Formats: sequence, structure tokens, C-alpha cells
Amino acid sequence: MLRVQRPLPERYSTASPEQLAGWIGDAKTALGDRLFILGHHYQRDEVMAWADARGDSFRLSVLAQQHPEADYIVFCGVHFMAESADILTGDHQQVVLPDLNAGCSMADMADIDQVEEAWEELARVVDIDRVVPITYMNSAADLKAFTARHGGAVCTSSNARAVLTWALDRADQVLFFPDQHLGRNTGYDLGYGESDMAVWNPRFDRGGLTEAQCKESTLLLWRGHCSVHQRFQPEHVAAFRAEHPDGVVVVHPECSREVCAVADQVGSTDYIIKAVAAAPAGSVIGVGTEIHLVNRLDNETPDKTVVSLDPLICPCSTMFRIDAAHLAWTLEGLVEGKVRNRIVVEPDIAAEARIALDRMLSIT
Ligand code: 13P
Ligand code: SF4
Repeated sequence: MLRVQRPLPERYSTASPEQLAGWIGDAKTALGDRLFILGHHYQRDEVMAWADARGDSFRLSVLAQQHPEADYIVFCGVHFMAESADILTGDHQQVVLPDLNAGCSMADMADIDQVEEAWEELARVVDIDRVVPITYMNSAADLKAFTARHGGAVCTSSNARAVLTWALDRADQVLFFPDQHLGRNTGYDLGYGESDMAVWNPRFDRGGLTEAQCKESTLLLWRGHCSVHQRFQPEHVAAFRAEHPDGVVVVHPECSREVCAVADQVGSTDYIIKAVAAAPAGSVIGVGTEIHLVNRLDNETPDKTVVSLDPLICPCSTMFRIDAAHLAWTLEGLVEGKVRNRIVVEPDIAAEARIALDRMLSIT
């Protein structure tokens, strides 16, 4: 999806880190409780330092809802998260994304036209009333709305198991998008095997599947992925274990099945943080997730060693777009009464998407 962020005014692009920190601090003081800054765990430290709350995509969406006193929610994360916050917060609240180019390549791998087409194609070969669509939080608002229209729900990496269980109590099949890996890993976790799953490739007619595959697969997994998590390979786990025979491996469920199968623990960003906290002092923990979180965990738990499983560390390039300069620019705008980079979901879409988000919140 094309979003255009204009270059920042020179005041911000040429400022020193100290100047930016001063401006952000002053704006925060001036705005007081009218401002609530949310920081996703993958944000840079220079941004996280100003977050009123940190969290994974699930926790942040709940927190946005729990702060009705804030007129401005500044979401330091990516576009789909800001959309979800706009959907869940009151009409008097405005959600701001400091850099409009902070999208998510995974979310962009499933668009509404492709998903509607897939649904129609599926309906020609299966009893579509027995299929429930589940969308990962990492998707555009119109996909969340589609999901609600067809009796489905949103899930995040911390509640995918509960949401898939809910869906399969109601139907025979699930169309899961956009992340095939989260769908597959959760399917395995629930006791399904490879023969119960098929990958729907939106580039091909009928997803590139035979009629029999469409009919017989309990889980139809959209062919999407996260470029950050897909980089981790089983060889990284083997190399870590060779170097640290007593080490523990914890990975995010957006990693491939092959990686999750050889990890000690698999869970969302919040889960990974808790796993590190629970490990005894002196532990060495190899983590498969975005590098800013891995480094922060290492710095904030000096009695443990936390390392990335991938020596060639890969940051999320879109999360990385949010920096102190963009944060200062948006906050100073708010002090002057100018709401820059407001994210607004069209009311009809927001109403339907909210149903899918509320279903998720009520399931978990
Ligand atoms: P969680 O924050 O739900 O763990 O997801 C990770 C992610 O990739 C967010 O974009
Ligand atoms: Fe999207 Fe992956 Fe970046 Fe998360 S880490 S915002 S899923 S590209």
C-alpha cells in the first residue's frame, strides 16, 4: 500500500540527539495526560525511552482502549497497529503514526481484492459456510472487516492458539492470513499435521491447489511471511547450541516450522520477554526475533546473556522508520494544535473491523 511521508523540516532532520530529546521532553510535559505514547517492542531505544507503555501488538491495542483520557495516541509501531488503535479508541481520540512509511511488508502480502477473490474461488469447491476466516493482527483494517463479515476474528501471536481453537469449534476449515508461519506453527501446536494444511498462493487460480486439497485441508494458510523472522534457519539454532550447549532457544512463531521445531520455546514478543525474565541468572538465551528487542533484553538483564540466533541480525526496516526526529516533529505539532500523520479508518470499515477485534478480545 502506498503511503507517502514528506521529508522532515530541517529543524528536525539536522537536530542533534540532545536537541531532539529536549524537544520531545518539553512537548510531553506540555501535553500531559492528553498524550499517550505507545511503543512496540521492536522500536529503537531512542523512541522507547519516551513510551508511556511498551508492548506487543495485542497488549498495545488493549492499552489504547484503556486510556480514554488521552486525546492523542502516538503509536510508535507500524501502520496496521495504528489502524487497530484508531478502531478501538473513542471518537474524541486521534491516533498518530510518526512516519507514514512505517508499514508492514507482511500485512501488504494480503490485500482485500485478493482475499475476496480467494473466498469466491473457495466457495466454488467447499461449503463456504463451514469455513471461518482468521486474520493476524498484522493486516489492513479492510481485511479485519472482511473477517467480521464472514464470522471470523482477528488473532495475534499471543492468542492465535485460542482463536484457532474457537474457529475450529465452529467450522471445519479456517482460511488464515496473511502469515503462513503463524498459522502452521499454531496448527502443529493444536495437534494438526502437514497433511491437514495447504498453502494458498494468491498468484495462482484456486490458490494453486487441487479441489481435493481445498476440501481436505483443515487449515488453508495464506502465502505470506515476515521478512525479519523468515531469515532464521535451523542452522542458526544448531550453531548456537554448539557454542552454548546449556543455552536456551526462544523464537517467535512468525519463524518457519523448521526453526520452531528445534527451538525450546516458541511465543510472541511478550512471551519472549517473560521467558528471558524467568530464566535463571547466568543463562544464555538465543532469541529468534527482531534485533532491537534482543539487544534491549540483553542490556536490561545484565545477569543473563541474550543473543540473536542470526549473526547477521536483521532489523525490521519499517519499524526502524520511527525515530526521535519524527517523534519530535509530531509531538511539537500537537503542542501547536496541528495533528500530523493522523491515521483514520473509514467509519464503515472501522465498525466491522471492531467486531473482529472485539471477538478476539472476548476469546482471550
Ligand atoms: P507481536 O508483537 O504480536 O509479537 O508481533 C510481532 C510482530 O512482528 C509485530 O509486527
Ligand atoms: Fe511486519 Fe515483520 Fe516488521 Fe512485524 S517484524 S512489522 S511482521 S515486517
